Amino acid sequence: MSEPKKLFIKTYGCQMNVYDSERMAEALGAEGYVTTEVAEDADMVLLNTCHIREKAAEKVYSDLGRLRPLKLAKPDLKIGVAGCVAQAEGEEILRRMPLVDLVVGPQSYHRLPAMAKAAEKGRKSVDTDFPQEDKFDHLPDRPRANVRPTAFLTVQEGCDKFCAFCVVPYTRGAEVSRPAERVLAEARGLVEKGVREITLLGQNVNAYHGAGRDGDWTLARLVRELARVDGLERIRYTTSHPNDMADDLIAAHGEEAKLMPYLHLPVQSGSDRILKAMARKHTADQYLRLIEKIRAARPDMMMSGDFIVGFPGETDADFDATMDLIRAVNYGMAYSFKYSARPGTPAAEKTPVAAEVADARLQTLQALITSQQRAAQEAMVGREVSVLLEKAGRLPGQMVGKSDYLHAVHVQTDLPVGEIARMRIVSSAPNSLAGAVLDA
Ligand code: 5AD
Ligand code: SF4
Repeated sequence: MSEPKKLFIKTYGCQMNVYDSERMAEALGAEGYVTTEVAEDADMVLLNTCHIREKAAEKVYSDLGRLRPLKLAKPDLKIGVAGCVAQAEGEEILRRMPLVDLVVGPQSYHRLPAMAKAAEKGRKSVDTDFPQEDKFDHLPDRPRANVRPTAFLTVQEGCDKFCAFCVVPYTRGAEVSRPAERVLAEARGLVEKGVREITLLGQNVNAYHGAGRDGDWTLARLVRELARVDGLERIRYTTSHPNDMADDLIAAHGEEAKLMPYLHLPVQSGSDRILKAMARKHTADQYLRLIEKIRAARPDMMMSGDFIVGFPGETDADFDATMDLIRAVNYGMAYSFKYSARPGTPAAEKTPVAAEVADARLQTLQALITSQQRAAQEAMVGREVSVLLEKAGRLPGQMVGKSDYLHAVHVQTDLPVGEIARMRIVSSAPNSLAGAVLDA
């Protein structure tokens, strides 16, 4: 047998890219590639890219530039660009960066092994199809390499919502749900390999409507069936759109103990005028009432969100409305971004807000979010929580894990990775909590 070829993958952007990178590594694994953490050792470098904001997309080109000396020193090195920048820019990447050997979009990466073979023979290829066949049917079964107790599992991809700022409908394509049995089979396989927590992924995950044995299943139905898988202890899902937050899903949060009390539900803005311009198709008040309903079903629900500041036309009053909404919800966690005009999206035609104004708003908003995050964390001190132990900590005898509410928790314990420990939270640091295991 020949020496295994080494593959280095760098992942940008969202959790779905993390999942895709694993699947790409598995697909190339079947062709004799093993992954390495060291780019310099690699026979192939694959950048799995993100197009959501300009900064993320431009980073890919600077990273490609940084690979130039490596390629010069190692002419047989193959360089591939995958993911959403690959989808959006296709051939253009080869023109701008002649050192690239292959470009593959998020819906066609099951063809990566053939593209890698072509690259080894010196042939470049670009594949940004949205193929008829489903990539998941053409990927190898997930191997035993997965030793972590948590895993991502893509159940839905793409988006039909066309928010005015967003590239996802163009890069990931139309909304498609995977058949429920395939999802269940993949989940069971992961659990056999030691996974205790699964995060279901989709750009619009709560719009899931995959074929089940008795008609289409909603996300709530899928969650309830997954909850019956022995050994699977925790279920999460992300990312959701407020308009798809169906009653059966909200009810599941009140009834399924395995469904974790943490919900990422982006709203983007608290101003009805801006929500309308963003084509979000709901008002701030509808969002707030939705959260009331969710908290009625699950009072301890930790809310998370995404915000965009400086959307074209955003005034001080619009921004104040966003700050009011954040105060009303009280988030446990939130991500916020300065609006970035994306080519091909409707909002990109509009006059942007001055950069200094957007910067100042982002700072103000982030200060509020940070204070809410801190308060939510500090409120955990003294409480009993369950923590899934994920890895060894930095101190001897220390383990790090995640609480039900997704807080990182440090604890001194002999319990192994994969164990779910009951503990009392004893203190709160800026980005994590400390716990003490309770006697069983
Ligand atoms: N500019 C800034 N932020 C954006 N997002 C999506 N598109 C843009 C854009 N053009 C943010 C939204 C989304 C998150 C994944 O990224 O908040 O929820
Ligand atoms: Fe980025 Fe969106 Fe693509 Fe994820 S789906 S990598 S967030 S552009």
